[in-house]
Amino acid sequence: MERTAILEVEGLSCRFGGVTALNDVTLALRRGEFRCVIGPNGAGKTTFVNAITGIVKSSEGRVRLDGEPLNRRTPARLARAGVLRTFQTPRVFGALTVAENFALAARFDRAFEERGRSLREDLGFTGREQAIASQLSQGERKRLEIGMAFMRSPRVILLDEPTAGMSGAETREVASAIRKYGSEAATVIIEHDMGFVREIADTVSVLHRGSLLMEGTLDEVQADQRVRDIYLGSGVH
Ligand SMILES: Nc1ncnc2c1ncn2[C@@H]1O[C@H](COP(=O)(O)OP(=O)(O)OP(=O)(O)O)[C@@H](O)[C@H]1O
Ligand SMILES: [Mg+2]
Repeated sequence: MERTAILEVEGLSCRFGGVTALNDVTLALRRGEFRCVIGPNGAGKTTFVNAITGIVKSSEGRVRLDGEPLNRRTPARLARAGVLRTFQTPRVFGALTVAENFALAARFDRAFEERGRSLREDLGFTGREQAIASQLSQGERKRLEIGMAFMRSPRVILLDEPTAGMSGAETREVASAIRKYGSEAATVIIEHDMGFVREIADTVSVLHRGSLLMEGTLDEVQADQRVRDIYLGSGVH
């Protein structure tokens, strides 16, 4: 059987008490694919990433990596398998420097020093290696967390609103870094900024009330009347 997908999510659902935060979501990503997941606040975007990475328990569904089932998912187990994620509110080691954060994230293979140097340069940390992470701006902390995730040469990387709080210039820098370092992975990017989505996405999936409403190119998604209706002029147009 031909298998081109790295990440396959099948019928993934997640319930919190009576709330169905994720409802029967099926999605497959190829190596080298950049997939944006969009949808209004509360649509289930973060829950989707949390359910894949084992931060929350899914009530139904399967996740496969290179055809192998990922059962009993925990963040540590997923990271070891090469599935990395970043958080909507960045999680870095606040008491440590930029360089120390990068070193802690590294898998100590032959290339880690070179990868770290190149990531720090591409993410704008040249000359900022000794800055304490807790004193960085929100945008810098987000960039640091993205760099830390890419330090592990992920097979799948899931980024929850990577450019939130960033300036236009920072956003463009991050877009090109994600494109560069994600080229060998499958990348899922949750994003509200449609300019950024246009810059980075091969395909776009729209979540609405926990369900996948549609997927397609950004043009197809923006032209869809159902998508226009759920956003009611709040930025997707
Ligand atoms: N741990 C949790 N316990 C209970 N309810 C939750 C939990 N996490 C999410 N929810 C609920 O699930 C729904 C989807 O939330 P989620 O955070 O996934 O949305 P989102 O699309 O990421 O929204 P935003 O754009 O605001 O980040 C919401 O109704 C939310 O209140
Ligand atoms: Mg969210």
